[in-house]
Amino acid sequence: MTWQDDAGRDLVRSFGERMAMFVRGEGSHLWDAEGRRYLDFLAGIAVDSLGHAHPVFVSALASQAATLAHVSNYFATPPQLELAARLKRLAGTGDTGRVYFGNSGAEANEAAFKLARLHGGAERPRILALKDAFHGRTMGTLALTGKPWMQEPFLPMTPGVEFIDSTVEALEAALDDRVAALFVEPVKGEAGVIDLPEGYLAAARELTSRHGALLVIDEIQTGAGRTGEWFAFQHAGITPDAITVAKGIGGGFPIGALITFGHASDLFYPGTHGSTFGGNALGTAVAGAVLGEIERADLVRNAAERGEQLRAAILGIDSDLVTGVRGRGLLLGVALSHPVAKAVVAAAQEHGLVINAPNDETLRLVPALTIGDVEIDEFIDLLTASLRTVQDALLLDTPTEAHA
Ligand SMILES: Cc1ncc(COP(=O)(O)O)c(C=O)c1O
Repeated sequence: MTWQDDAGRDLVRSFGERMAMFVRGEGSHLWDAEGRRYLDFLAGIAVDSLGHAHPVFVSALASQAATLAHVSNYFATPPQLELAARLKRLAGTGDTGRVYFGNSGAEANEAAFKLARLHGGAERPRILALKDAFHGRTMGTLALTGKPWMQEPFLPMTPGVEFIDSTVEALEAALDDRVAALFVEPVKGEAGVIDLPEGYLAAARELTSRHGALLVIDEIQTGAGRTGEWFAFQHAGITPDAITVAKGIGGGFPIGALITFGHASDLFYPGTHGSTFGGNALGTAVAGAVLGEIERADLVRNAAERGEQLRAAILGIDSDLVTGVRGRGLLLGVALSHPVAKAVVAAAQEHGLVINAPNDETLRLVPALTIGDVEIDEFIDLLTASLRTVQDALLLDTPTEAHA
């Protein structure tokens, strides 16, 4: 029996076949069960902000586990209060901000969905979200996710959500005083690392304010410094009503949060929402340590600078397959000229590089925020080799004039 047999028999089939079995990680490298080393430019899909087995992560987890792991939300703990205060400071909520803790991105967005309903009440049944944006897989967050093929097997959806194009014109046409909230994913990661049009967030802020709707920004993939600001909305210089975070704030520990600003902070009242595990001492201690290390080591700036370095290096690769680079900071999408992204991911794995393909024409790069010259050089070598492997296979498949 191989591990593939075990996985095929025992794990739920909602994921495709596992590509490898990893047994160890250190920094930006992973090792599989056969002892092969890989460069990890996926980082658990934008989760492992500090890379693998970072000493700060390890010691925060161990020392909090040896002190106090979990007591429930009937009680407060120091790491929970410290993390809430830190998130408020980093997001710039001022004193009136509040934080709700859950265990995942979907739970953070579920909380935001309920926040929108509390704000809207019977007067504002409409919620707007962007076509193609991804907000999660639970029934509530699936209803917010503008991908009909994902929703289709699970219809009917929670009512009230309408999907609009990611343009200011579409937003202007859709908004009225019956809209409770607009949900925005500032860089559409799952859709293929698609940037919003220039000025969209500023216009969305202006228009939602004018109509009394909440502006909720899903920072689950973009947050924790990944785009070169603590949160992507900060590039636009706006103040949203709520943001949701997860992935990178825990650096590998499952945690999510809804952070509210101003009036939106007054909407939840006792009994309206909760979670047994959300915000426990263990998770909040780890997330606090991860964010503390991102601050101490100036990794937000590193994400901005390494992102630009990486973009330039990718554009310098001599391959007809690469047509451009989208995204910001260390959330980058490599656009391909042919629908061969999955083949490139497979070739990359053969060459010892972990990346993924959100669609057939895009490679997604979301490495640890700690990467430097060494990792970037190694990445460019491995990606170049992977592209060449696929390019060679394509040439073999394409009949030459002599054969045609
Ligand atoms: C933008 C965005 N929102 C929400 C989610 C859902 O988060 P989770 O998988 O932790 O539930 C994701 C996950 O990929 C995401 O990228």
